[in-house]
Parts: sequence; structure tokens; C-alpha cells
Amino acid sequence: MPTTTINKPEIRARKMKFNFSDIKNANYWGGNAIVSSYFAAMSATFPPGEKEFIESVRLFQDRINDPHLKKEIKEFIGQEGQHSHQHRKINEAFAEQGWDTERIEGKLRNKIANLNRVLSDESRLARTVCFEHITAIMSEFILENQEVLDDLPESLKSLFLWHTVEEIEHKSVAFDVYETLVGDRNHLRRHMALVTIDFSITMLYYQVLAHIWARSLPSWSDLKGAWKFFFGKKGMISNMRQPYLNFYRKDFHPWEVDNSDLIAAWKASKYADMEISKTTSKETHSDAANDNKGGLAAAS
Ligand SMILES: [Fe+2]
Ligand SMILES: [Fe+2]
Repeated sequence: MPTTTINKPEIRARKMKFNFSDIKNANYWGGNAIVSSYFAAMSATFPPGEKEFIESVRLFQDRINDPHLKKEIKEFIGQEGQHSHQHRKINEAFAEQGWDTERIEGKLRNKIANLNRVLSDESRLARTVCFEHITAIMSEFILENQEVLDDLPESLKSLFLWHTVEEIEHKSVAFDVYETLVGDRNHLRRHMALVTIDFSITMLYYQVLAHIWARSLPSWSDLKGAWKFFFGKKGMISNMRQPYLNFYRKDFHPWEVDNSDLIAAWKASKYADMEISKTTSKETHSDAANDNKGGLAAAS
């Protein structure tokens, strides 16, 4: 199996500008209540979850000497911080539509605090490595099958594309920190098995709670649509199976799959223009153009 680290792209924390006012309905994902509640619940987990990812890497940060990895850690922290910032905003938009993201966030915050009382630093880092792999392969699926985002409000589609791209950019950071300072693959594999069970059960639990709190009863067609979305031939979970299993190989490295082309495609798309520096320079540009027009009109 290939283990060469190839064509690793540069990691950069970007500040983005999204306007979530186009989320006007609880079943924002193509009218499907189950797919919508799944991603609302997942979004609710990001602020506390990503905070833990940052903290667990920070526990080891000072012992990293490689200047390149040090820089990558800094950008990883910056990216995860921005993700939480944007997800907090979208969580408010979801809450306005009835999904109680704040309560889910609170539940996960408590759970992480309880876990951290008993877990070693190495186990906290291992869990982060595992979650980073799950988010990276989920991101890969979304970026390779962007038609799954077609039914979404534009702001949400833009958010997902940006977040997934940055998850791929930084997919090896926690892994490389673990490899450098811990390196025990058996420990990592055990945690992946535990994290997978934990993640699946917790997400299902949060999703059921979200439906109960929202008094939302999924229909038969929601169930059929969600089954197809997750477990169908082109479904998200069905297609994550092999990339997930690759993690258990002895020589696995996140960049053995070079998907920097997905990042390059996003950078060339209109969605990358939502970065604040670009938006601002464009606005300044168009303001200047309008000023100019006004000036010309007044002169004529
Ligand atoms: Fe993230
Ligand atoms: Fe991440």
C-alpha cells in the first residue's frame, strides 16, 4: 500500500462571510426532516467538539520541534476556531427553525468535560486523530459528490464547501503530532473503534432528541430518502466504508490519498470569494466602480 506523503497543500485559516438569512425552514435539506436534523445536530456538536480538537493538540504543541508542523498546528487551530465561529451562527439559524442546537451543544460540552476527567492526554489526542479522519473522509465524499448539496440554501452550501475543504487541508495535522510524540498505532486503532461506536450512538441520540424537542415526526418518505442518502449505493456512509477501513492499516497516513485537487477546485470557484479579505476588496472595488460611474454621470 502506498505510504508516501504527496503534494500536501498549504493550510490557511480563512475568515469567511456568510449570510444565513436564506434558511427559512426546518427541513432545509431538500425537504427531508431526517437528513436536516442529522446535519443540524452535527453542526451543534462542532463548537464544543472542535474546541476539544484544538485543546487536545495544544497539550502537545510545545513539544513539537519541526517548524513546518508547528506552523501547520497554528493554522489548524485557526481553521477549527473559525469553523466553530461560523457553526455557532448557523446553529442560531437552525434554532430559529426549531432544531434546539443549544441544548445539543450543552450536552456534548458536559460529555467532553466528563470524559476529560478520566482520559489521558494521549487518549484525548488519539480521539482527535480519529475524529479528524472521520471528518476528512466525510468531507471527501461531499466534495466529490457535490450534487448532494444542490437542494441546500446557498449560504449553507457555501459553508459546507469551505468547512470540508479546510478539513481536507488540515487532515494530517493531529495525526502527525500523534505520530511524532505518541506513535502507538494499536492505541490509535482501539480508539478508532471506540470513537466510531460513540459517534454513531451519540449522533443518533442527539438526532432523536432534536426531533422530540422540535415535535417533528418524520414521514415514511423522509425515512426512505434518508436511507438512500446515507446507505444507498451512492450514499454517504456506504461510500465512506473503504476510506474508513484504511485507517486500521499499519502504514496508514491521511495524505496517502491525495485530494488536493478538491481544494484547488474550490479555490477556483465562486465559493472561495466569500473569504472576508476577498469580499472586502471586491466590495471596495465595486464601490470604487460605482463612485466612478457617479462621477461620470455628474460630469456628463
Ligand atoms: Fe472543522
Ligand atoms: Fe478538523
